[in-house]
Amino acid sequence: MITTMVDLAVDLTALEHNYRQLRRLCAPQVKMLAVVKADAYGHGLLPVARKLAAAGADYLGVGSLEEGLMLRRAKISLPVLLLLGILPEEAEPAVATDLEVSLFRLDVARALAAAAQNQGKKARVHLKVDTGMGRLGVLPQEVLPFLLSLKKMRHLKVMGLISHLAVADQADKTYTHKQLQEFTALLAAARAEGFKLPLSHIANSAALWELPEAHLGLVRPGLMLYGSPPSPDRPPPVELQPVMSLAAQVLQVKHLPPGSSISYGCTYTTPDWCDLAVLPVGYCNGYSRLGSNRGAVLIHGRRAPIRGRVCMNLTMVDVTGFPEVKAGDRAVFLGRDQGEVLAAEELAGWAQTISYEIYCALGTANLRRYTGV
Ligand SMILES: Cc1ncc(COP(=O)(O)O)c(C=O)c1O
Repeated sequence: MITTMVDLAVDLTALEHNYRQLRRLCAPQVKMLAVVKADAYGHGLLPVARKLAAAGADYLGVGSLEEGLMLRRAKISLPVLLLLGILPEEAEPAVATDLEVSLFRLDVARALAAAAQNQGKKARVHLKVDTGMGRLGVLPQEVLPFLLSLKKMRHLKVMGLISHLAVADQADKTYTHKQLQEFTALLAAARAEGFKLPLSHIANSAALWELPEAHLGLVRPGLMLYGSPPSPDRPPPVELQPVMSLAAQVLQVKHLPPGSSISYGCTYTTPDWCDLAVLPVGYCNGYSRLGSNRGAVLIHGRRAPIRGRVCMNLTMVDVTGFPEVKAGDRAVFLGRDQGEVLAAEELAGWAQTISYEIYCALGTANLRRYTGV
């Protein structure tokens, strides 16, 4: 449900700032694929892609074919990689629109080769290898046989190997080094067999920041572009600015006597006189119900704790002792208010999740307003 009482803002100037900060961490020849899958982590695929393309991103990474087609319909002509791959029946439109495909199935390879032959083109693919993420990709021992099969498909151009890191955000890099070693050994072995693989890549935000040796020819950051550190306990060496913020107007303020119950389940009872502000944001806005009796919002630059359960459309906060809060005042759920900040990482802590999910949930459940377009 979308209401005009709620203001979800996306600051594209901050996005561009973050992009430039990440560039500073890479050598000039390293290309950058901006990960804009999942509607740009809830920030909005097209505005984000346009801004990053204008800022100089070399590649965009999306999830589905549909997201790739949206970019092409919007006349965004940058190289685009479909990170989840495609289904065989999606090969024709993928090739027709020059979308590059993360590949891990031979039936998809054959469909792409056939579509490329029909269209008199070469289809570009990146062979996805599972070096330890345990998700998509062929296993290391399958890489060479797979490449040999692809060699026979003249209408395919294999750009490189692609893999994903499972724990690059952790301070202990033992597992990540193992993954990287596996990846570089596979690359070397494939190159020794004559495969050029000019554009191979493995680095997400965390590796971009902490593992320069993983940059190879291209890095694939997502989260840091949107202003969050991959590991909240270790601040990155560059200053990132939050891109998304969420605020709402106070709908009502009431003065409650001691012993008043707040919200469904009567899980909070006022121990004393209480000034309560009622806010028009709830779980239908992507705000987690796990914030009940745990989270807070910012009003007049101060933290107002959530009292009782977060409802579908409404949340109640305690503003006792705040200087005159009234209906129409601004309450910040995510972002900055005067000197105080509520970061996605903090919301994620209350909701027992990660900042990625906070962005996806808030960004897709609310009407987005853009600044710095
Ligand atoms: C294949 C792949 N590469 C890169 C990224 C970007 O990761 P991060 O947002 O941690 O930078 C993702 C995100 O999940 C991904 O799935």
